[in-house]
Amino acid sequence: MGVLLEARGLKRYFGGVRALDGLDVTVNEGEIVGIIGPNGAGKSTLFNVITNVFPPTAGQVFYNGEEITGIPPHEVARKGLMRTFQRNLLYPPFSVLDNVRMALHLKSGYNFFEALFNTPSYRRKEELVDKQALATLGSADILALKDRISSFCSFGAQRRLGISVGVATQPKMVLMDEPMAALNPEQVSNITKFVRQIRDAGTTIAIVEHNMRPIFALCDRVVVLAQGRKLAEGTPAEIRDNELVIQTYLGRHGSAAAH
Ligand SMILES: Nc1ncnc2c1ncn2[C@@H]1O[C@H](COP(=O)(O)OP(=O)(O)OP(=O)(O)O)[C@@H](O)[C@H]1O
Ligand SMILES: [Mg+2]
Repeated sequence: MGVLLEARGLKRYFGGVRALDGLDVTVNEGEIVGIIGPNGAGKSTLFNVITNVFPPTAGQVFYNGEEITGIPPHEVARKGLMRTFQRNLLYPPFSVLDNVRMALHLKSGYNFFEALFNTPSYRRKEELVDKQALATLGSADILALKDRISSFCSFGAQRRLGISVGVATQPKMVLMDEPMAALNPEQVSNITKFVRQIRDAGTTIAIVEHNMRPIFALCDRVVVLAQGRKLAEGTPAEIRDNELVIQTYLGRHGSAAAH
């Protein structure tokens, strides 16, 4: 298992705020790596810099053997590094199935003239898109909702759809920012199952979360951030027992961390 993603000496300053302050993080192919830490630790900023929503102040990002520092977000996505966002990203008036189909069309290259004249190559692409979209909804466990307008789905189903949109193209790697935030225990366990399936289907995952129980259950490795730096790194068992981590972060999440 080689290194798939590497952030080297990453810094990102916002005025006087050091959101990232010299961070080294690696993710190996096939892993689920958890990124945890207090509010404002720099977790979302790390994902934003990796996908170049904004560039780093200093440092480098390597993905799949090449440097991707500073390349546009759509180029990052085209290389198979996708992300999901802290809020749900959907086209509310469209059906569940159409939301995923649109994500796939962006990848397969939607050709207006092919579509207009309904050419054989267009029909072949459409069949493939439908097949992949339905398979994704199946593993998200929302296939039964495929024709429902997405904004009429439950909050938990919308969250799983948001993730489906990110992973429908079967990216090599996905960055998930708080996929379990504000969900009830049953919805959290549904997402946990879905995340595990995404990994088992061959996608490497980095996941930011405040829900400690699913993070410790899911992750091969956990990286703890505080004030833009790495506070600790290790297996879930090592992190759970790390005094510094308990003092800085887990203390406040103690009941969840104990499980
Ligand atoms: N676009 C921005 N402009 C200015 N400051 C920002 C920006 N994005 C993040 N910051 C600041 O950088 C720091 C790190 O923020 P970040 O969102 O990365 O934290 P986080 O670990 O994701 O926190 P949370 O757990 O609350 O989501 C914070 O002080 C935040 O206010
Ligand atoms: Mg965040």
